[in-house]
Amino acid sequence: AGATIERKDAHLDLCSTASVEPSQNDSLLSCVQLVHCAMPEMALEEVVLSTSFFGKTIRAPLLVCGMTGGSKRAERVNRALAEQAEQHGLAFGVGSQRAMIEDPQCASSYAVRDVAPKTVLIGNVGLATAASIGVDGVRNLMDEIDADAIALHLNAAQELTQPEGDRDFRNGYRIIESLARCLGGRLLVKETGCGIGPRVALRLFDSGVELIDVSGLGGTSWVRVEQFRASGVAADVAEHFASWGIPTAAAVASVRRAVGDRLTIVASGGLRTGLDVAKALAVGADLGGMALPLFRALEAGGPERVDQSIRVIVAQLRQALLLTGSRTPQELRQSPVVITGALSDWLAGLGSASVGDGLGNDCL
Ligand code: FNR
Repeated sequence: AGATIERKDAHLDLCSTASVEPSQNDSLLSCVQLVHCAMPEMALEEVVLSTSFFGKTIRAPLLVCGMTGGSKRAERVNRALAEQAEQHGLAFGVGSQRAMIEDPQCASSYAVRDVAPKTVLIGNVGLATAASIGVDGVRNLMDEIDADAIALHLNAAQELTQPEGDRDFRNGYRIIESLARCLGGRLLVKETGCGIGPRVALRLFDSGVELIDVSGLGGTSWVRVEQFRASGVAADVAEHFASWGIPTAAAVASVRRAVGDRLTIVASGGLRTGLDVAKALAVGADLGGMALPLFRALEAGGPERVDQSIRVIVAQLRQALLLTGSRTPQELRQSPVVITGALSDWLAGLGSASVGDGLGNDCL
């Protein structure tokens, strides 16, 4: 457990200061233009942001994505962010719970129910760990922190960049099928900054998954984070994969097109403002998610800074809905958008995979 916890604290150090976002606009949200409505015909207070998620109602379609746990420092981060999420009625995720499997003593660093009694709380485990602890083990992770759901994270690019990381990614769908069979609508499958594309999304759907977080390219890059920790050959290999992945906007739009309304889609990866959230919703997401900006707000100015950041984000989102003439996130999804530049190239390139294509073993 010691090694896992030390690695987690090193990750937090790097994420708080280093340049872990390789370049701006990789999310391609800058290629989504919302269309102004000069005659909104509604009052700002008529905009309704509340959204249902894992059987609860949250006050805005926003998730504080899973980041950390294990150490004392991680515990402080989890508690402070969970408390803010509760106060603003947002969903909250803890980071990978692997450390508490290795050392049950650090379970308290994930236990935030006392400061977030009502809101949606999501546990977190990696695919390989889930395979080794099985469905009952995963269910225990949820129960121990009284979570509403569990996020299963996929991170092949990060693993390949870690000297101690996994090298064998076989049987993933089989593991997910067995988890989905038992957990059903309490399972969220997420990437960690490289994106989920339409083919994988369709196979996840066929495996019984109902919710995904595309966690696309454009924000925190785990290849970049691991590159800072790596040396020699590993660091040089990583250098060229720091911008590897499906841009968040391309992932959301292509997956929505492929699956219709069959999946709940969270968009994360490089969302930095309420306007970014609005753009993600407009191209097909049900919720937006953020990790790095809220962690950095906490590091820079404590809970007050997080509080202010969330207020700004929600106000921007509300304003974007009014200015597009949308009363609800659903109406925003129906409103016109203009897709420009690289994003339209991506969408053309990703083609028109859709449910029932019989995609066999393709893994793109
Ligand atoms: C993460 N992320 C993450 N994801 C996950 O499934 N398990 C984890 O333990 C972590 N840990 C973690 C730590 C830190 C410090 C950050 C910033 C992120 C990834 C996170 O959940 C999310 O998918 C993306 O980071 C969202 O993009 P932005 O907002 O960080 O660009």
